[in-house]
Order: sequence, then C-alpha cells, then structure tokens
Amino acid sequence: MSISLIARDIKESATLMINEKAAILREKGEPIIHLGGGEPKSKAPISAILAATSVINSGEVRYTPADGTPDLKQAIIRYTEDYYKIKVAPENVIASSGAKQAIMVALQAILNPQEEVIFPAPYWVSYSEMVKMCNGIPVPVLPEDGSFQPRIEDIERRYTSYTKAVIINSPNNPTGAVYSRQFIKDIVEFCQEKGIYLIMDDIYHRLVFDDSEWVNVYDYAKEMTETSKVIVINGVSKQYAMTGFRIGWAVVNRKLQEVMRILQGHQTSGPSVVMQKAAVGALNGVQSQVESLRVTLQNSRNVMMERLNAFKGIRATKPQGAFYVFVDFSYYEKDSRKLANFLLDKVRVATVPGVDFGLEGYLRLSTCGSIKDITEGTERIKWALDPDSPNELYIGQRKLVRDWL
Ligand SMILES: Cc1ncc(COP(=O)(O)O)c(C=O)c1O
Repeated sequence: MSISLIARDIKESATLMINEKAAILREKGEPIIHLGGGEPKSKAPISAILAATSVINSGEVRYTPADGTPDLKQAIIRYTEDYYKIKVAPENVIASSGAKQAIMVALQAILNPQEEVIFPAPYWVSYSEMVKMCNGIPVPVLPEDGSFQPRIEDIERRYTSYTKAVIINSPNNPTGAVYSRQFIKDIVEFCQEKGIYLIMDDIYHRLVFDDSEWVNVYDYAKEMTETSKVIVINGVSKQYAMTGFRIGWAVVNRKLQEVMRILQGHQTSGPSVVMQKAAVGALNGVQSQVESLRVTLQNSRNVMMERLNAFKGIRATKPQGAFYVFVDFSYYEKDSRKLANFLLDKVRVATVPGVDFGLEGYLRLSTCGSIKDITEGTERIKWALDPDSPNELYIGQRKLVRDWL
C-alpha cells in the first residue's frame, strides 16, 4: 500500500491504544483496572445535557459558522474575562472539535515545513505527532536537572532561527506539575523578545491542588492585539468531564483566527451544533461541579501517593494538578512499553508507557478511577513487581501465582 511520508512517521496515540486494548480485554470479561485513562468518571453537567437534547429534540440540527455559534463564543468570551482578565471579541475566538483540534488548526495556521516547535518534556503525546503532521520538527526539551519543572535556560538553548512556537501545558499531562510563576513570566518574555508564538494549553487549569497556583499567561503577556502571538487553548473535556462532547477552543489574534477558521471550515465545517450547545450549557451553568471534581481528584491523588510511597524502588513526584502521576519504574524495568504490556497481561492493570511522553522508564498512572481502582490497581502492580510480595494474589475468584520473579 502506498501511504504518505508524513503518515508513515506518525505513531498511534499511546493512550487511545491502551484504551482499546483494555476495552477488548474487559469485553471478554477480564477484571481490568484502568489506570491509563485521561478522563474523569463523573457525569457531564445536567445543564449541558439539557442544552444538547433541546437541539436534538427540535429536529433542526444544522451547520453552524465554522468557528462556532455566537452563543458559544459569548460564553468563551465571558470565560476568558473571568479567568484571564482580558476582554476579547468574537473575532478572537474559534471553537473546535476538542482542544486537540484547536491546537492542530493553530499549528497548521502558523507552521511552514521544517519549522521547529519547542515544548518541555515529558509532554502530552499528541504535541510531537501534531507538529510532524504539519511538516514541522518537534523539539522536546527535558529539564537537565531531572525534575518536571522546565527551565528557561534549557528552552533558550534549543532556540534556533527555525523556531516558530513554544507549547506550554500547565498543569501538565503526564506529570501533574504546575509550572512556576517565574517560569511563565520568563517564557512569555522569551517568546515576545524572539517574536515567536506561545501556545498555552490550559486544558487542566481549574484542576489544581493544595495551595499551588495556575498562572494566567496574561499576567505577563501584552493585551490581545493584532500582533499578539499568544494562543490560549482550553475546552470542556476535562473540567466538566465532557471528553466525549469534543468541544475546545482557542483565543488568538483576529488575523490568525481568520486563517484558523478557514482551515477548520475545510476540515469539519465546524464542531457539531449539538455539542456546542452542550458546551454553552456547561459554561453558563452552575460551576460547583468543577470544584467538586477538583476536590475528588485531589483526594484520589493523595490516596495514589500514599500507595506509591509504600512501594520500594519506584519514584513518584507528587502532582499539583490534573489527574496523573508519572512514576519512575526503571528500577524494575527500563522499557516502559514492555512494562505496560506486562502489567496488562499479568495483572490486568492498564497504564501508559512513559516513552510515549518522551521519558523512558516511567509509566503514567491516572487518578480518574475510583478509590477502589486506585488502591487495587497499585496493589496489583506492586504484587507483580516487588519480589518481597507473597507468591499468590486473588483477583476476585481467580488465583494468580507469580512465576516470573
Ligand atoms: C494536555 C492536553 N491537551 C489537550 C487535550 C485534548 O483535549 P480535548 O479532549 O479537548 O481534545 C488533552 C487530552 O488528553 C490533553 O491532555
């Protein structure tokens, strides 16, 4: 079969892949514990459901403007005012089919072949592949001090005349790290000085724990103008547990918005009207559900950390946001894909290999599941790896005997 050079170079999304494999095993009746997922388990807000069903019930389900309905744009404008403290116009806003599409369309709008996009590692699996799909060059930058906090000097060092943009994601997937105010200030100033785009992927910005602080890029970036190169990405997927609704957005300068709107118009003709109404329902509805999700995730993070801290040989940095813990398992196995497959095969626990996030030897464990899933899942992993564990483990009625250590 003849396929394009770009397509040949694109890896399947590691998270979607593990989801599929786990789903197949679960369908066969296997007692899977899913610590690989990237979506909260709570229900979508009722205001979102009612808004979506009212469009369906009307029977008038039509195309919308490619960049979003006026009421969704108004809701996003208000959101931007509430959280970013800036006033933007409808011409600065584009709603897309998920934050993922908003990022993709932004990259398509700004990148020429061979231009480089820098992002701190570990990074969300899709950044590198999306840049490659635009014929660009991904430049992941791992902090040299081994922490999950990027350093401006590491990024400066990777800057070249081909650098077109930097992508920042805080709270971060996969580490849960929340980047410092100083770093956000430095990166804004760096991008402004170099005249390059800064893509702020803020999809987890309301899911921050303890006394950590998410930093608004507009505390430091110049106000939105025609020359502004800040691209703010957000969406309903994570904060409202609406991953399946597929609505995200970008807030950008007018000229870039126009280009993105044209590109998106040729891709999807715009997001589904049903889902846009649902997003309006969520954004304009009661907000207490977001806080309750945040508190639940913080508690789940605490339980997961307690379990991991009692696990000899591994290293886990306490996340300050989002719903992942990125754990160093290299003491047991350096090849993270091998380890993830081993854990799924032997103890039916789904995790995501660190190598797909740009750091080998790690696994990403999700805290989205129930407390029972978190405790039992970590227990099973420990049993599979720790030679001091007893030789047998019961999963329901099934007795597992460890014959690999
Ligand atoms: C960092 C990051 N950005 C963007 C997205 C995409 O979100 P959406 O579901 O809105 O496309 C995800 C989803 O996993 C993510 O983790």
